[in-house]
Amino acid sequence: PQVLHWSHLCANRHKDLADLQSASLAVLFFRWAMPTACRILSRRATAVVSRTRHKSSIIAPASSPSAPPPGFPRLPLLGSLPWFSNLSLPDGSSVQSLDEQHESWAEGTRRHGPVWRVGIPGLGKGISGDLTLCADPREFVKVLQAEGKYPYGAIQLQWPFIVWATKHGRTVGKLFTRSEDWRHIRHGMQKSILPPAAAAGYAAIIGTTGREVVLNAPLWDDAGSFMSRASFDLFAGLALGRRIRASDPRPGASLPEDERFCVDTIEALDLLPDVIQDLPSIAMSSLGLESPMMKRYFRAVSGALDYAEAQVREMLARLDAAEPLSTAEEASYLASTVRTQRAAAAAGAADALTDDEIVASVSVALVASVDTTSSIATWVLAHLAREPEVQQRLREEVAAALQQHAGSLAAVIEEELPYLKAVVRETHRLTPALVISSVKEVDADIDLAGHRIPAGSLVALENHSLQMSEALVEQPRAFRPERWLAGAVAERKGTPAELIDHPLLSAPFSAGARKCPGSRVATLEVRALIAGLVHNWRIGLVDERQATVPYRCQTTIAPTMPRLRYEPLTEESRAVAEGLPPRGGGGVCAP
Ligand code: HEM
Repeated sequence: PQVLHWSHLCANRHKDLADLQSASLAVLFFRWAMPTACRILSRRATAVVSRTRHKSSIIAPASSPSAPPPGFPRLPLLGSLPWFSNLSLPDGSSVQSLDEQHESWAEGTRRHGPVWRVGIPGLGKGISGDLTLCADPREFVKVLQAEGKYPYGAIQLQWPFIVWATKHGRTVGKLFTRSEDWRHIRHGMQKSILPPAAAAGYAAIIGTTGREVVLNAPLWDDAGSFMSRASFDLFAGLALGRRIRASDPRPGASLPEDERFCVDTIEALDLLPDVIQDLPSIAMSSLGLESPMMKRYFRAVSGALDYAEAQVREMLARLDAAEPLSTAEEASYLASTVRTQRAAAAAGAADALTDDEIVASVSVALVASVDTTSSIATWVLAHLAREPEVQQRLREEVAAALQQHAGSLAAVIEEELPYLKAVVRETHRLTPALVISSVKEVDADIDLAGHRIPAGSLVALENHSLQMSEALVEQPRAFRPERWLAGAVAERKGTPAELIDHPLLSAPFSAGARKCPGSRVATLEVRALIAGLVHNWRIGLVDERQATVPYRCQTTIAPTMPRLRYEPLTEESRAVAEGLPPRGGGGVCAP
């Protein structure tokens, strides 16, 4: 499987067919000719690296200024595969590189120090690949300062989507470029969603939708599936002003076409990492052909985006015909974008978005908003289900805030409750949904912790090792939201441990000009889901013995959720629980 991961990274980095083809050849080589050699090399290399393991501090400066960063050896075509694919950990266990990202990238930093290199063919320059990892956020600031006018962005890793958009001549492909086209669309699309005031304008609809969707949680066997549907419902509510009841699995709850859209989007997001890693897809794509898996992915993407675009176009037509919109539609991201962009066009602004560009940006936002938001919320739920005391403290904070705001969830999520914020922050520290959240290409030579990084290098922020370091965090494997409360943060100030409070580590949205445009509304959505859930339900594990949370790396890293038990605590949740069979159907409702 790790070989397939390499293939995905190979292919991701290659924009045109020639590049894709050379990546495919490398992958064919890895996949079919080299597995045995790799296994032998890997065993030997692991032994050598273990003997010479560099016991470096993750925040120590480099000893020889201007030296290139240390790291795993790199071979032509194989990159660091023999050394990095199967890492042995200090406790004697081993991890499968990108499959077990929480451990593997952090282990690279433990071995080599705060700035290190790994060769992943196709990722970065040269036939060995060349990715620099930086685990010190203070140093990574220099990378962001050198990201250039058209920065590298994480979405460029999604080559199957780029192939689809190019083949179908879709305007949305412009957002995936590093050009004036990206700047133009990005600038227009973020205006009505990223500024604090714009995002706060959606709190009301997020609060209203959130109240309803959290009641559906026990109707699902798998809390992860519930969260992805609930994320759809929330974002569709704010983007279109429409209620898509995807989180309610009862017959007749959602419209068939809305349900189809959900199924297509989820299928596309599920298939994307598989296509990215699929050897026949990479090889056939380099020849301009479509593998069976690509055909399925393209069908799902077309289904999802065609539907999203049709919704957006329908509303544009209603606006043109001056038809009345509902209050929610009036307040939606789409209506706001149309108003802003049409006003700019009327005032003669050359950079106003065209209708096609508006359609493209709102549609892609609908798709982009799902998997990410649900991964974060699912991880939070995974921890809360195991930590009854944390859950109770959070419930009390939410109850007090609801009482203060006459029961308004919208007001509560706008307020930034300290304990809720700490719970989400602790989740991000212990189990990030993206260990590598920021990947940038530097456009000038820079110095990182005393190491020379030439212009054109690809550098990623590794956000996990520092936050799991025993030197900086007490009992780093324990889930302790209290470490993020004001008193604890103030106590760390002026000590080496204050490094964990660096803004670049505080959230998973990256930074710089390509920072996630949905970051603020996503934060409100996660708050609404978690606050609403603990208010309505006492949540626990059906099997209390499930101490660890397995996870899988898809587009994000999402936990494989154990079955949950929901005890209703409010009138509304009791009504839902009464309608459920005592055991079975979805999650289990306690009497
Ligand atoms: C908790 C939920 C979310 C997380 C963790 C997340 C994370 C990210 C990250 C790490 C990036 C890459 C930034 C970079 O390349 O430097 C990104 C990009 C992006 N996100 Fe999000 N995101 C979330 C929710 C959303 C939502 C709700 C939207 C809807 C507007 C959205 C739309 C996008 C788009 C369009 C991009 C590409 C931006 C560009 O390349 O200029 N995301 N997101």
